[in-house]
Amino acid sequence: MIDAATRLYCVFGNPARHSKGPVIHNTAFKNKGINAVYLAFEVQDAAKAVQAVRTLDIQGASVTIPFKESIMEHIDWIDPTARAIGAVNTIVNEDGVLKGYNTDCKAAVAPLVPFGISGKIVCIVGAGGAARAVAHGIAAQNGEIIITNRTEQKGRILAETVNARFVPANEMANIQADVVINTTSIGMTPKADKISFPPEALTSEMVVMDVVYTPLRTRLLETAEKKGCITIDGLSMFIAQAAAQFELWTGTTPDTDLMRNTISGTI
Ligand code: ATR
Repeated sequence: MIDAATRLYCVFGNPARHSKGPVIHNTAFKNKGINAVYLAFEVQDAAKAVQAVRTLDIQGASVTIPFKESIMEHIDWIDPTARAIGAVNTIVNEDGVLKGYNTDCKAAVAPLVPFGISGKIVCIVGAGGAARAVAHGIAAQNGEIIITNRTEQKGRILAETVNARFVPANEMANIQADVVINTTSIGMTPKADKISFPPEALTSEMVVMDVVYTPLRTRLLETAEKKGCITIDGLSMFIAQAAAQFELWTGTTPDTDLMRNTISGTI
């Protein structure tokens, strides 16, 4: 029951109304018997959003597009991994001290851990914020990284920061990798007919992961499945980053199967 003791958590973004955060975090709070609510706030200004966290004593916040970078200068402490990635997706309010973390990084690796990453060749498609988090996560597990991106300069900069090889987009079909991860918005509705990696470069021994989860089965994953690859959908990473946030906020591990079942029905 919501009462005077209920603690507030939220997501800041723009847009934020499509966020699946409220559904999964409120489900987890209820399941764990924690007296808290999680709301979506569509905001215009990172500084004002952070001020609201301080004023209302909001206990924790998810930070999403386009504030993951701009929020950093307004909080009090930033975790070294989030600093290296250059993006914060989680704020924890520790007795008035606002601490920033990046749970995307750990989340990108979590679904791949069962297949082993160390020594594997991992091709990351894209060089934006999501790609940076994924690349740092893979680098931390000693994966051998290939970056490919539409805009060459951006791709080369990311490749340099994580000690990876860069392959231009027009040479993507020649890439030989053990794991392919799409971090771009290609495949997302309403342009779901596009594919982020050339089908001819997919082989049956590959693990193929997409960060896109609307739709759940992107064209990349459908094609990879037909080729006999193991596929990992974007919901796996989304749930893993949310579970890591929940742990930072509450010190409790949420039921990720429950989170997944709850959200699957809403996509
Ligand atoms: P995010 O923070 O979600 O990663 P972003 O920083 O805007 O978002 O990065 C989006 C990534 O998707 C970039 O790598 C972008 O390529 P560019 O660097 O060339 O912009 C890639 N991307 C988005 N739409 C694309 C498209 N239609 N074709 C190829 N790449 C695309």
